[in-house]
Amino acid sequence: MSVKVSPSILAADFANLSLECSKIDKSNADWFHLDVMDGLFVPNISFGMPVVKTIRQLTKKPLDVHLMIVEPEKYITEFINLGSDIITVHIEATNNLNQIINKIHESSLKAGIAINPETPISELKEYIKKVDLICLMGVNPGFAGQKFIESTKERLKELKQLIISSESTALIEVDGGVNKDNFQDLKSNGADVLVAGSYIFNSPDYNIAVSYTHLTLPTNREV
Ligand code: DX5
Ligand code: ZN
Repeated sequence: MSVKVSPSILAADFANLSLECSKIDKSNADWFHLDVMDGLFVPNISFGMPVVKTIRQLTKKPLDVHLMIVEPEKYITEFINLGSDIITVHIEATNNLNQIINKIHESSLKAGIAINPETPISELKEYIKKVDLICLMGVNPGFAGQKFIESTKERLKELKQLIISSESTALIEVDGGVNKDNFQDLKSNGADVLVAGSYIFNSPDYNIAVSYTHLTLPTNREV
């Protein structure tokens, strides 16, 4: 299976949101990654429902909604009704993960769990067979354009092992700091979905950047 690419709109030019979304819509990108931040779970406030609603009208591609908010259970219904396709909540943000996963699944959407760099992978064990996606953070969430934390690669291997040993079908999405220097390595270590914000939106041609991210080149290890 080739890797999916989910450009993070957080790195787009919001003065030209419609044009930015149309470029991603016309590109080979698989999903739209939408980072919702509340200024409490993370030290930044990004955008909320009106922007998700607007982007829903600008593309038919799946909306991969990453909620970086406290008490996500309060807002799940709203994000379902806005037309999300995948809703991901942080394991650190709630004590009601099972309830949230069930609610998302009852609406026939995909449910994901995001995990911060400091949270042990073992905490995912009890949920790994219930979710469709694990969003492995490559940075501390809050901002686009941060440097990739190298230890994420070891965590990725550990997560892949957990998924294999528990016979889970969850996809692994790596989010934060993904760029041309690390995406081949991430793919060869088990990433199924790559989120890229700055790498794509700072490039002169989004479609070329997306296509390059899709491309699997032989790594040094394989040569
Ligand atoms: C970080 C967000 C990421 C971020 C990715 O809190 O969840 O999705 O926007 O942006 P880059 O690729 O620039 O790190
Ligand atoms: Zn994200």
